[in-house]
Amino acid sequence: MYVMESAPGARTIVNGKRVDYFCGCGYFALQGHPELIKAACEAAQKYGIASTTSRSGYGNNPVLLDVEKKAADFFQVEDTMYFVSGYVGNIILLQGLADQYDIVFTDQESHYAVKDGVAVVDKPAVVFRHLDPEDLKKKLRKHVKPRQRPLLICDGVFAMTGALAPTPEYLEILQQYEQFLLCVDDAHAVGVIGEKGRGTFEYFGLKSDNLYSCGTLSKAMGGHGGIIPGKAEFIETLKRNSSIFYSSSGTPTPSAAATAKALEIVMSSPSMRNRLWDNVAYAKKRFGEIGFDLGDNPVPILCLQSEDSVDFETVQKELWDKDIAVLYVAPGSYTSAPDNGSLRIAINAAHSHEQIDRLVHETGALL
Ligand SMILES: Cc1ncc(COP(=O)(O)O)c(C=O)c1O
Repeated sequence: MYVMESAPGARTIVNGKRVDYFCGCGYFALQGHPELIKAACEAAQKYGIASTTSRSGYGNNPVLLDVEKKAADFFQVEDTMYFVSGYVGNIILLQGLADQYDIVFTDQESHYAVKDGVAVVDKPAVVFRHLDPEDLKKKLRKHVKPRQRPLLICDGVFAMTGALAPTPEYLEILQQYEQFLLCVDDAHAVGVIGEKGRGTFEYFGLKSDNLYSCGTLSKAMGGHGGIIPGKAEFIETLKRNSSIFYSSSGTPTPSAAATAKALEIVMSSPSMRNRLWDNVAYAKKRFGEIGFDLGDNPVPILCLQSEDSVDFETVQKELWDKDIAVLYVAPGSYTSAPDNGSLRIAINAAHSHEQIDRLVHETGALL
């Protein structure tokens, strides 16, 4: 078992040793930022740890409202809904939109969070092949009855491979229906992709009233909790229809205060995203030199796969012995895990080129 004994960052203490850390999802390495910790401590002193009641009753406080306001600034929308974990964003979205669709379509490799969201709503659901617009088209033709309104939901960026869902193609296909909705779980996209880090729809330049997303502030952003951006009226509807909103506590207050600070930092420091993209491009180039073609999407998840029978589990163990932490992904161990074993490498904005050089060098030496 691995036990993390410091904040996650470019260098992290795990099981008593300091390692070059290429795991997790802290793409800006903000989780240990002194300003976030200060904000969390001040909020704990002022408001205590948590509200102990739901936000539809007395469970609001200025910190939670501040996160929603700052997140609205970040996404450039009228309002947002902030809740305890990105995982439940899919449930909230699908419950909130329930009277606007009749049948759900989802990628076969959608994250557990998406699958659980689909399972909660009482609508027929159809799975299409991973990242395959042609299969989506076929399944829509086969399953959507006259006057039915389809909804598609899947990851914007897939957690294990970093693959981007081909949302422009999905949108084009769905536009053949009079009414439809296209939703993405942007947990790995928020903060990262798109010019301002607003996620998948910004990255692809997609605009339509039929597009919705949920995300998390627990990954790149360095805080904690899920987020849904939208028009004020839509957010009001979500809050009214969400069983999670009216029957469970909001995000613990110190985490929420840290999250508000993280949003401020991300909005005022666009150079952080540039550093991340620079590191991602550098890492992809260096891995290219040892035979891994990782494409050129600005996504901080690198997935090393091989057609030769590379034993990536052993590679992970040997890198660990050299104080480098990466994640071995066994086939079938997680949604979107490739069929053969692979290594998931998470790049963050705080990694130095020297760390990336050492990672590539040591990996190359083990192949
Ligand atoms: C696609 C996706 N959605 C949701 C989540 C859960 O987010 P959170 O940790 O904020 O609950 C994850 C976490 O890995 C994820 O990959």
